Amino acid sequence: MTETCDLVVRGGQCLTPSGLVDADVAVRDGRIVDIGAVMPGRGATELEVSGLTVLPGLIDTQVHFREPGSEHKEDLQTGTAAAVAGGIATVFEMPNTRPGTTTAAALEDKLHRAEGRAWADHAFFVGATADNVENLGELERLPGCCGVKVFMGSSTGDLLLDDADDLARVFANGERRIAIHAEDEATLRERRRLVEGGASVTQHPVWRNDESAMLATHRAVETAERVNRRIHVLHVTTAPEIVFLGRHKRLVTVEVTPQHLTLHAPDCYEAMGTRAQMNPPIRSADHKAGLWRGIVDGTVDVIGSDHAPHTLEEKHGTYPNTPSGMPGVQTTVPIMLDHVHHGRLSLMRMVDLLAASPARIYGIPTKGRLAVGYDADLTIVDRNRKQTISDAAMLTKSGWTPFDGQEITGWPMLTVVRGNVVMREGELLGQPLGRPVLF
Ligand code: DOR
Repeated sequence: MTETCDLVVRGGQCLTPSGLVDADVAVRDGRIVDIGAVMPGRGATELEVSGLTVLPGLIDTQVHFREPGSEHKEDLQTGTAAAVAGGIATVFEMPNTRPGTTTAAALEDKLHRAEGRAWADHAFFVGATADNVENLGELERLPGCCGVKVFMGSSTGDLLLDDADDLARVFANGERRIAIHAEDEATLRERRRLVEGGASVTQHPVWRNDESAMLATHRAVETAERVNRRIHVLHVTTAPEIVFLGRHKRLVTVEVTPQHLTLHAPDCYEAMGTRAQMNPPIRSADHKAGLWRGIVDGTVDVIGSDHAPHTLEEKHGTYPNTPSGMPGVQTTVPIMLDHVHHGRLSLMRMVDLLAASPARIYGIPTKGRLAVGYDADLTIVDRNRKQTISDAAMLTKSGWTPFDGQEITGWPMLTVVRGNVVMREGELLGQPLGRPVLF
């Protein structure tokens, strides 16, 4: 091919569907048009990346960006800036904003707010409630919507669907895969007395115990099988859930977070107090080992950050009144590259979890692979770079990370969104030109 291109990415090692190959990547009109030896001078812009590894643009399918309603914690501009700074090219944002994203108007409002302000490509979940059940089949099909989210247990915000009949009605309305927060509300309510009136945050996984997660996961899977609906169980935290979910893969896909793969109780609570508080909680080293077995044996489909920013002021309150959640969209790629460096998973598997699988599960035809015809979304990393994660480098409005002070080997160097270089070595470049994802 001899025509000129908008961009040629030169000299990198590319992770293609056939494996790692030394190749240039040619881009025209936001799409990859060639992978291989591209003639010198063909690109209007030439990007030299010798020594670096070129991955498909990575996708984070679970972030909370707080707009509208809690913009003091985050907004669509700062959240997506943090995403591309961390090597994430596409985000799916959760509906527990204020108001919750439960109507077509609320979805439209988020899409409108993202125009000209989002650095990453994006889509929004619609939250299921007892009141919008009948509309979910329509809502999930609206442009810019990535699907329906169900909170079976209450967490941040007031979205909750804890009635078994309501759950079945939600599963019976619509067709796309439903994302589930699986904690059993009745168990959480009954056990809240264990921390009521003040307790150490080390009690967080005691209050929200393994059983509460397992009960809800069982009910979600049983209901899905009864009505033949595909579900995606978010942020799985226990070893038995991984084993159970591994036996139900026909309809069920599985997410774990980098923090549940990296931190464990009680050490994380002792080291960082309520910064480590999230739902479902960080649990013991044994549970963490069970999650890793799910990464290695293939049970786990997706890594999502569950980026859930709260200010340090809010986090410095008294447990259990402190909010649950921690930022993560900017640290997912370095944390996972560090796990790759230590031999806990292959680079291919990491990209499966953060690109190919999200695209397959949610049905994004043009993302998730470094291949001709796909969107020119690229996450370009230095697998050998050593760098320390710090609160100071975080672009999230909340200004902190649970991994502050951790030295990492492997770092995102450049992020390209549909052929536009939007991040280089932590600096944002150009304009926020993120667009809604096409499904
Ligand atoms: O810890 C959490 N925080 N878990 C959730 O499910 C919600 C999230 C938030 O939005 O803060």
